[in-house]
Amino acid sequence: MRVENLSLHAGGRQLQQGLNFEVKAGEVLAIVGASGCGKSTLLRHMIGLQVPQTGRVLWTASGEARDVHGDDPPRREIGVAFQAGALWSSMTVGENLMLPLELYTRFDEAERERQARFKLALAGLNEPATFDAEPAALSGGMRKRAAIARALMLDPPLLCLDEPSAGLDPLTSARLDDLIQQLKRDVGTAIVLVTHELESLFAVADRMLFLDVEARTATALGPPAELREHGPRPVREFLTRGQAGTDKEAA
Ligand SMILES: Nc1ncnc2c1ncn2[C@@H]1O[C@H](COP(=O)(O)OP(=O)(O)OP(=O)(O)O)[C@@H](O)[C@H]1O
Ligand SMILES: [Mg+2]
Repeated sequence: MRVENLSLHAGGRQLQQGLNFEVKAGEVLAIVGASGCGKSTLLRHMIGLQVPQTGRVLWTASGEARDVHGDDPPRREIGVAFQAGALWSSMTVGENLMLPLELYTRFDEAERERQARFKLALAGLNEPATFDAEPAALSGGMRKRAAIARALMLDPPLLCLDEPSAGLDPLTSARLDDLIQQLKRDVGTAIVLVTHELESLFAVADRMLFLDVEARTATALGPPAELREHGPRPVREFLTRGQAGTDKEAA
């Protein structure tokens, strides 16, 4: 995916401008920045949910260049799990997962169920009863995993995850990191990951994009470990001060 000269607005305010970056095939790209800088807004632009006032987002897989906001948007190619999980509460977990297959494929009921159970297991929800459970009956960590499983139903080459480990205990959070690495390694899925958890960031991200809330643009793009040593000062501070915060929380 290629993002060109994108600016982000919300509530009549400009959040970011001049964003230029690519998501390469099979990479994990983290989007990082202070709360309110526009990370979730950027994701909504990248998946085509919000139309940019300036700039564009192109789906560039297999040599084509389709505008994400154009006539033939790459809907099936991009899976997304929103910040709040966002499973339909009126449906069981299984029904939530089978919905994309109903909308976009001709698989029959039995095949839809088989694939949904497979994706639940892939996301680490091996308990068969989870399939028939109501989302409200799941723990927060299970809901996050179910949302990721649903995002994977159409085997998208690109998966967007908005703070998948926020609010989870460290062990559950580490398991999610494992899942992300497994998807990248075994399936070759490219992943755009919004996160403020440094542990996750250093564990899974190939590169990170830093959105500066003051400068209102991206001020760094590169491997997290490199930026921690040689990035601009606000980026180094974010990557080290956050670490102290994480340690404190852990203690
Ligand atoms: N629909 C909207 N109407 C008005 N303001 C909005 C809207 N959506 C987002 N905003 C504002 O835009 C800013 C950026 O929001 P966004 O959710 O993208 O931030 P974020 O970087 O994801 O933050 P967080 O880390 O807290 O999730 C916030 O100040 C938010 O209040
Ligand atoms: Mg957000």
